[in-house]
Amino acid sequence: MAEYTKTIHAFRESLNSITESRPKVGVILGSGLSKIADSLSGETIDYSKIPEMPKPTVEGHRGFLKISRDFALLAGRFHYYEGHPIHDVVKPVLLLQALGVEQLLVTNAAGGINPDFSPGQIVLIRDHINLMGTNPLIGPDNGELGPRFPDMSDAYSRALRKRIIDTLDYPLTEGVYAGLSGPSYETPAEIRMLKQLGADMVGMSTVPEVIIANYLGIRTIGFSCITNMAAGILDQPLSHQEVIGTAARVENRFRSIVESVMELLTSE
Ligand code: HPA
Repeated sequence: MAEYTKTIHAFRESLNSITESRPKVGVILGSGLSKIADSLSGETIDYSKIPEMPKPTVEGHRGFLKISRDFALLAGRFHYYEGHPIHDVVKPVLLLQALGVEQLLVTNAAGGINPDFSPGQIVLIRDHINLMGTNPLIGPDNGELGPRFPDMSDAYSRALRKRIIDTLDYPLTEGVYAGLSGPSYETPAEIRMLKQLGADMVGMSTVPEVIIANYLGIRTIGFSCITNMAAGILDQPLSHQEVIGTAARVENRFRSIVESVMELLTSE
């Protein structure tokens, strides 16, 4: 898409004056998971130093890029529910494309639909269902960045998933992620519907970024942190505090998984 070509060029220009690192692995961290960045070494660049990045809508959630020779990690997403145009939601992936990233790891917080899941569990995303009501590739396309009708049949690389499952010293389950716009959580009836549709977990992010990554030919992998059981599964209300609380509780385990996968991706 011409608009994305322009954005990628602009990112490239900005990055040229900011950093010399050109890593091959990109990471996008989800809600409540940014602390994972603290233990990694690298240069930290606030989003505000990168003019093409959208402005955060929540005060105090500034967002930053942490970059080293091996990886570029983005802490701070732009959610569709914040009112960002869908073309802005995917700018973190365009930034990674501008750096030349070839493999992407995305993480998110999600509500568990599959009754075998429990809060605190970390699930490898096998596939997604786009229920956001939009798609970041809507618009004129001149074919210079990717195909008009990108294949999504291996959106979460099967080969990389296999390597992760075979290599990691952690019992990983796979699941299908349903992406909705939010920001209201789902009703119990919506969760029953999503279950019938084949979803194992539900969230409000990731789908737009993964569509763009596939369009650009970036091999992608994703993890959901099950922060709560979805609406109606347990007889209790949902809250953002629960989401943040669970994410904080599993931070160390999540960090070690993310670090192992980053290492594995770097050696690909
Ligand atoms: N629903 C949607 N998004 C979420 C949830 C949920 O239950 N938990 C964390 N993100």
